[in-house]
Amino acid sequence: PVRFIGNRSSGKQGYAIASACAEQGASVCLISGPVTLEAPLNVRLIKVETAQQMKQACADELNVDCVICAAAVADWQIKQTANSKLKKSNNKLPELILTETPDILSWIGQHPSRPKLVIGFAAETDSIKKNAEDKRARKNVDWILANSVIQSGKTVFNSDINEILFLSNTEVEYWDTDSKQAIAQKLVRRISNYFSDVRGYDVQKKDSI
Ligand code: CTP
Repeated sequence: PVRFIGNRSSGKQGYAIASACAEQGASVCLISGPVTLEAPLNVRLIKVETAQQMKQACADELNVDCVICAAAVADWQIKQTANSKLKKSNNKLPELILTETPDILSWIGQHPSRPKLVIGFAAETDSIKKNAEDKRARKNVDWILANSVIQSGKTVFNSDINEILFLSNTEVEYWDTDSKQAIAQKLVRRISNYFSDVRGYDVQKKDSI
């Protein structure tokens, strides 16, 4: 009831993408963990607190053309959360037993009814291209936007700028440092071009992004 395991992500990149999609006329559902950002305009916002809740919300909203997984979901969770505050006792350190959280992107990527375009992120400290390529293949993702956690000596978390290595099954493209809004707009242009190029695909048949 008092302390929790969190992470350093601000949610700014995900919110900027949701906003850019809505500005381009997409019907957008934003499934968001706990952040302090204001909801973007014209976006249906679903707030969640745990990886399980996020997975359930994604399952409920799976019937979409495109999914973009930008959340920094924790990889581990406490096996049994405490009902009462953990008190210091006898100078003994508590042992926190961890279990894995569901990998939501991987679950979506491999789902038989997966959206047509599945996009993920990869936050890396080392071997960015190799790790991101492995992640793309392992999770069955169409596009990965990889970024270095440290950019120009500063952490990308809570920053207003980002620098991306874009990977698809045929392309590797470097996106120079830019605002998170500009990165979002660039991604949305690409998504838009992708759907205009897929012959015979009716974007209207599904509800939203
Ligand atoms: N992701 C997810 N569910 C998780 C963990 C990650 O959906 N439990 C998604 C993120 O939203 C992101 C992608 O998977 O789109 C990669 O996340 P990242 O933190 O870079 O990598 P991990 O999958 O956690 O792998 P590793 O810790 O080995 O880098």
